[in-house]
Amino acid sequence: MEQVNRGNFGSKLGAILAAAGSAIGLGNVWRFPYETGANGGGAFLVLYLCCVLIIGVPLMVAEFAVGRRSRTNGYRAFPTLGAKGVWKYVGFLCVLTGWLILCYYVVVQGWTIEYVVQAGVNGLAGKTPADYASDFTNFVSDPIKPLLYLFLSVGLTLGVILMGVQKGIERASKVLMPLLFVFIVILVGCSVTLPGAGDGIKFLLYPDFSKVTPATFLAAMGQAFFSLSIGMGCLCTYASYFPKEANLFGNALNIAGIDTMIAILSGLIIFPAAYAVGIEPGAGPSLVFITLPNVFYQAFGQWPWLAYAFSLMFYLLLAMAALTSAISLLEPPTLWIHEEFHIRRRYAAPIATAICVLVGIACSLSMGVWDGYKIGGMNLFDFFDFTTAKILLPLGGLLTALFVGWKMDKKALLSEISNERVLPQTLIRIYYALIRVVLPLAIIAIFLNELGLFGF
Ligand code: PHE
Repeated sequence: MEQVNRGNFGSKLGAILAAAGSAIGLGNVWRFPYETGANGGGAFLVLYLCCVLIIGVPLMVAEFAVGRRSRTNGYRAFPTLGAKGVWKYVGFLCVLTGWLILCYYVVVQGWTIEYVVQAGVNGLAGKTPADYASDFTNFVSDPIKPLLYLFLSVGLTLGVILMGVQKGIERASKVLMPLLFVFIVILVGCSVTLPGAGDGIKFLLYPDFSKVTPATFLAAMGQAFFSLSIGMGCLCTYASYFPKEANLFGNALNIAGIDTMIAILSGLIIFPAAYAVGIEPGAGPSLVFITLPNVFYQAFGQWPWLAYAFSLMFYLLLAMAALTSAISLLEPPTLWIHEEFHIRRRYAAPIATAICVLVGIACSLSMGVWDGYKIGGMNLFDFFDFTTAKILLPLGGLLTALFVGWKMDKKALLSEISNERVLPQTLIRIYYALIRVVLPLAIIAIFLNELGLFGF
């Protein structure tokens, strides 16, 4: 019974693919370039890579270990492994964070679908860079159109969860994600050969540390959490289906490696193109949407049909990558409502979704008609993005690391991560020190630094 309730993975490979599908999404292609652009380029990339290696990978292993050991979902895993007092609520924090992310994730997912449609009706052809920018602004600030796409993206995500076809989707992404990768590589080739692209490559790859501020550290850490899907217990749930012999380190390194590669390659598409056509790299959430069409239509200028086919396929694949991530965000709240309130899945999922839709509408409108309403100087969309990625995810990660390092039974943890002592003991020892001390201190230091306590 429990097996059926906890998701619909028929196979163990499906669970590993799902974890990869969760990680690879808009975070890589949309959020990474815009955060990099807003935070000064190369230096941000260096900090990002450090965060992935020092915080991201160890934490992913920790979430995998918690999930596989407890064989239950993210919020039950902690009490199952002996969490008492406040530790029992870490799981709830994780559920809440994912839920809040989904509220604005579906907005961007909707934008992606609009671009699939635009590419499909050949609406991207024959325009100037200025047109692409104004088209995007007009679209997101429209009070109706983005909402229709929001409903569509939520409907798709809900449909997959309700019909229990996750397994099929994850399997399909086994073929589709490598295809996305191939497309990205080709686009990198196109973008870096555009006239004037050199400055964009330099912007991404040459670290100028004079641009680093406390906010850059926080942004890099937040992006690592967001892109790797860590700090909200969703990887925990997937790992509860991992086979006993699955190498947790190997899987974490593979997923983080592919995820990071796709992010960097996306940067290598966006920045050269942005410089080539004179778009500000700090353009914010619009960056990818106003830059990409230029790449398609300038690189394939002589072959309009190729530009058409290529852009359509690319946006379709991106929408698919967004869908697998959105599923991973909707599953934990659905499960939580289902198990805590004893409401059937088929009602729990729409309830979880309805709340997202309500908040999502507000986030979407905050890009246009409600732009005047600010919280801490940010519109609602940016506020949700800031609070979840830069505060709640790292907080969830910090608590997970402290729990795993200090509260969880040491023997259980070590046998889990070493696959019953198959992996080298030195590696395990280094890992234990990382998760107990280095990682929590790093997260706390970045928080304190942001508050101006260190002033880096
Ligand atoms: N990692 C996903 C992406 O890159 C987003 C996500 C964040 C999914 C957190 C689950 C949890 O798009």
